Amino acid sequence: MSDTPLLAIEDLHVKVAEKEILKGLTLSLNRGEVHVLLGQNGTGKSTLAYAIAGHPSYKVTQGRILLDGDDLLAMAADERARRGVFLAFQSPVAVPGVSVANFLRTAYQARFHGAAAKATDKTVGQAGGFSVIEFQKKLMAAMKGLKVDPALATRYLNDGFSGGEKKQMEILQMSLLRPTLAMLDETDSGLDLDKLHVVGEGAGRLAQEYNMGVLVITHYKRLLTYIKPTRAHLLLDGKIAVSMGPELVDELEEKGFDYLKATYVTKSA
Ligand SMILES: Nc1ncnc2c1ncn2[C@@H]1O[C@H](COP(=O)(O)OP(=O)(O)OP(=O)(O)O)[C@@H](O)[C@H]1O
Ligand SMILES: [Mg+2]
Repeated sequence: MSDTPLLAIEDLHVKVAEKEILKGLTLSLNRGEVHVLLGQNGTGKSTLAYAIAGHPSYKVTQGRILLDGDDLLAMAADERARRGVFLAFQSPVAVPGVSVANFLRTAYQARFHGAAAKATDKTVGQAGGFSVIEFQKKLMAAMKGLKVDPALATRYLNDGFSGGEKKQMEILQMSLLRPTLAMLDETDSGLDLDKLHVVGEGAGRLAQEYNMGVLVITHYKRLLTYIKPTRAHLLLDGKIAVSMGPELVDELEEKGFDYLKATYVTKSA
């Protein structure tokens, strides 16, 4: 085993709509580690996730992002996804006209069977090593495991879905795509307590089972009871201002951002 981190971000500067949001962010994450990213609203947590995933509106103007030592910034968003970079969106968008089942199958094929292995809809059985029936079984099992209403499979992706259903869809994707780097952007928000349990436990189990590197973005501790963080970072002024153990999350919950800033940022500056 080499000691190349799964994700290495160096001096990252990102501009959104001509405004610099990230201003020299450095972060490194290994397989099997769960890092939590904390920060006040609008500090750029989602911006970081988008920049890693390759969203074209989030422009990297300086710095590097390496995945397993390879230049992620040289790859298009779909190539990053094929390499196992996954982002569960804070606000998943609706895709009218594309059913959940079709969307997931296309994503699954792209990740595991290559662009050339497109099965036509009518093909039953093997197509470029891909079995529609096998996939259907996997999908049903994954939906059952995450207690997703089976009726959602035939509906258009996120179209008219409740807030919680959208978040369930994100973790359903994660379960089928088995990313190497999973970024969960406020996946806990909008879930009722039962769903939080199912989704949190599901995501935590997957992360462990596949030895993923996980970046959790959250404002609350509750998801972290299921996905135990190994490290916590505070994003402030476009940079990681503090990196320490998961106790930072407890301190934030108990004492708030001003306390963290006064305690850690001023002292270390
Ligand atoms: N597409 C965009 N167009 C214009 N401004 C944007 C865009 N995306 C992000 N921004 C701005 O960039 C800043 C950082 O946004 P970002 O979504 O990364 O914050 P965040 O840390 O995820 O906040 P929250 O905790 O509220 O989710 C905000 O001021 C936001 O308004
Ligand atoms: Mg956000």
